Amino acid sequence: MLTRFESIRVLAVLLAGLAGLPFSTQSDSAQSGPPLSGTPLSLRQAADRVGMLIGTAVRPSLLSESAYAATLSREFNMVEPEDALKWWVIRRNRDSFDFQPADEIVHFAQVHGMKVRGHCLLWDHNHPDWLVQGHFTAQQLSQLLHEHIDRVMKHYAGQVFAWDVVNEAMDEKGKLRDSIWYNQPGIGFAGQGTTYLEQVFRWAHDADPHALLFYNEAEGEMLNRKSDAIYEMLKDFKHRGIPIDGVGLQLHLPSPELDATALAANIARLTVLGLQVHITELDVSLPISASTDSDDRVLHHDDQHNNDLHNNDLHNNDLLRQAQVYCAVVHACLQNPGCTAIQTWGFTDKYSWIGSHSHGNRGRALLFDRAYEPKPAYDAVLQGLTASRTPRK
Ligand code: XIL
Repeated sequence: MLTRFESIRVLAVLLAGLAGLPFSTQSDSAQSGPPLSGTPLSLRQAADRVGMLIGTAVRPSLLSESAYAATLSREFNMVEPEDALKWWVIRRNRDSFDFQPADEIVHFAQVHGMKVRGHCLLWDHNHPDWLVQGHFTAQQLSQLLHEHIDRVMKHYAGQVFAWDVVNEAMDEKGKLRDSIWYNQPGIGFAGQGTTYLEQVFRWAHDADPHALLFYNEAEGEMLNRKSDAIYEMLKDFKHRGIPIDGVGLQLHLPSPELDATALAANIARLTVLGLQVHITELDVSLPISASTDSDDRVLHHDDQHNNDLHNNDLHNNDLLRQAQVYCAVVHACLQNPGCTAIQTWGFTDKYSWIGSHSHGNRGRALLFDRAYEPKPAYDAVLQGLTASRTPRK
């Protein structure tokens, strides 16, 4: 395993290359701005200095775990409920709203001076059975959705500063997905393209005119058919005055690879529309195998020694490539003043959706290991935030 110091040095060099900066050590940086390496700053302090939001998805049941709570409040200035604002939590029953789990997160954020992002009001996943099996008419669905947006946003008005109003409405080709809200049977605008989304943004704006309203998407972060379609839709929305303030780029990366130039170009064209960009669900997953994941390592026989060394190299290599990707994301966001938040989808490898999502094949996707020790990726993000010499606000 690399020592912390070794990984920080490697990362400082990587980052300097990415940012076109000369490599700097702590001693020579004293004359030229904030230190680049070896700094005791937390992510949060580094982000505050440059006017960035650094956030993470959070589960309320874990706030009572002291290492979880301490790491969260020390390192992040923004939180987002991972599931607690989704229909299956908040609307387990048709006639009542359960705000308690999300309220716990909002309370934690207030106590620790953190911002709260809301996620999400319209999505076609994780619905309660009563909604899916209710055989509702379009008119009933319209009323249910309108009421949901109104009640939830008003409950959190002044506490949740930005909402993913719409999540993942497009398929990989950039076509609107068939869904209960669009056309199965929809809320009254089936077959009319984005009209149902426009209605939803208008309802959201009416419910809380001060909240920032986002369209959040997966796999449209780089330049491809889907990101082109997102761009065209949002350009049209802006031209026609649909109330929308930003776009969320999820950035769940299934391997430590990234076309950072394409990401930066996509961020650039979206911000030219006058939209803010938030990186909303960043994680960079790595392959899991019994031989490379230390938690699964049970055998240390002599005849395995060489194998272990080899696997250790692979393991370290993966962690460094992962760190490099995190570093490149931070750099792509920071180089554009319109990219105002970077959020990871959880922060410790102890709790991440990737394990179940990948059926146990991938993992180790986040900034802290299972013991809450910072990984090279953590150092990369800290380096990236610290290397930005110009405060953004
Ligand atoms: C995931 C959560 O992490 C899981 O706990 C839940 O079981 C399913 O949803 N894109 C999104 C997030 O917008 O809401 C998803 O979160 C991950 C993919």
